[in-house]
Amino acid sequence: MELAEHGTAPWWQQAVTYQVYIRSFADGNGDGTGDLAGLRSRLGYLRDLGVDALWINPWYRSPLHDGGYDVADYRDIGELYGTLDEAQLLIDEAHALGLRVLADLVPNHTSNEHAWFRDALAAGSGAPARSRYLFRPGAADGEAPPNNWRSVFGGPAWSRTDDGEWYLHLFDVTQPDLDWDNPEVRDEFLDVLRFWFDRGIDGFRVDVAHSLAKDPELPDVDPDAQAITSGNDGSHPFWDRDELHDIVRDWRRLADGYDGDKVLVAEAWVAPDRLPNYIAPDQYHQSFNFDFLTAPWDATARRAVIDRSIGLMHEVGSVPTWVLSNHDVIRQATRFALRGADDPIRLLADGIPGDVDLRLGLRRARAGALLMLALPGSVYLYQGEELGLPEVHDLPEEVLDDPIWTRSGHTIRGRDGCRVPMPWSRTGPSFGFGSGPGWLPQPEAFGDLSVEAQAGVEGSTLELYRSAIAVRSTRLADSLDFEWVDSDADVLAFRRGGLLNITNLGREPVDLPTGELVLASAPIVDGRLAGDTSAWVEQR
Ligand code: GLC
Repeated sequence: MELAEHGTAPWWQQAVTYQVYIRSFADGNGDGTGDLAGLRSRLGYLRDLGVDALWINPWYRSPLHDGGYDVADYRDIGELYGTLDEAQLLIDEAHALGLRVLADLVPNHTSNEHAWFRDALAAGSGAPARSRYLFRPGAADGEAPPNNWRSVFGGPAWSRTDDGEWYLHLFDVTQPDLDWDNPEVRDEFLDVLRFWFDRGIDGFRVDVAHSLAKDPELPDVDPDAQAITSGNDGSHPFWDRDELHDIVRDWRRLADGYDGDKVLVAEAWVAPDRLPNYIAPDQYHQSFNFDFLTAPWDATARRAVIDRSIGLMHEVGSVPTWVLSNHDVIRQATRFALRGADDPIRLLADGIPGDVDLRLGLRRARAGALLMLALPGSVYLYQGEELGLPEVHDLPEEVLDDPIWTRSGHTIRGRDGCRVPMPWSRTGPSFGFGSGPGWLPQPEAFGDLSVEAQAGVEGSTLELYRSAIAVRSTRLADSLDFEWVDSDADVLAFRRGGLLNITNLGREPVDLPTGELVLASAPIVDGRLAGDTSAWVEQR
């Protein structure tokens, strides 16, 4: 297995980055919403967990119609979260603890409350202020949308303004798409990047990085190829078009002008063999590996994904990333409990059946974490996975907040189940999240899964993550070596840095190879590695 040369590796190459969904991480002022004060008070927890960096979901001023992915002002902090001064304190305090901070850039669309969109609406049809977005006359004498594009959240991707023109929104009606052919849009985002880099932000996760370019003819699309994952050869009218790469080159040039290895990470839901197009010395440094996230709990499938990921990234002189969850997918402790139904995107649509075996899911999630944390490259963790939190699949309908719920005509519950506030203590109105109830209700089971209930408890999921991250950073982070070891069909085994990682994805126990046991996701009995278990063994 070949990987890019290590040499003087940049910090992110083998980093563990922890995703903070700020709204649900820690509530410092008791209003039910997570905020900067809460996050600052928990930085010690993140340092002790051993991660290298945080990626904070959008923290900007926003009416929160899509959890902050509807940005009203890219240069200000949302008032529920705090102030610009507090953001600066957070950045400085994180740096003082050795933690880098990545922000979230949302370039495909603004909020409809952004000054530009307000101006566009006020200016009227044909005005230059409209050319920052995609306004078009309708079809059928203006009565029908300009084409058949559908919103990712359901319903048409076009809405009609009071004066009869239509505007494009690939997401919610409150998220008008920007026109990236307009130089003003390009300049504005370069300035936004500068604004945050100047304040010490170490990089950006770039939202829907594969959507920025649209076919200028705005042709109809194959109705069966509208999903966010549909881009696969550069010809789709709005996903993964080749023109978008020039935009990224401008950002990279700017980032490279700063000291300190600024990093750009793409959120691009494209076919695996299209991903290398995003990674280049003049484009993104990294891209999330959704191929790994969406792979089923199956040794053959996961081995193929690991090989493909390493191979594809090697071709472009880079190393892979690994991720098992984020704020858009079903949490892995629940996902892995669903036999034969592991597609996290489809599950959002179909809902979670009541008969999930959560013990099995957690067991697999723990094994999956040990497997992931042993792989070469960088790892992205999503808040709460280190506690083994399950998806909260039974939130009452009246609290559902994801625009998918309304846009699907109340047929798809959406992504709120993985965004429920973090439990920090066993008891309390929101299990230590804040001094009152959180913005989404937590299930009773969160008390026993809280940080307080797991910290210092041998064998807890939290301690498993802490130990694995510690061993990873001391033993595995200096080298990219990786070598498969022969194993049974249901088993994945590979060697790295003197450690052997062995994961049994089957049901039958297998012999644990000789050597000193460093870590295991479940107890080792009589030298046997049980099903759905992963272990790290020292082999000299
Ligand atoms: C990305 C975000 C998701 C958001 C969407 C629109 O996929 O991760 O949460 O809804 O973009 O901005």
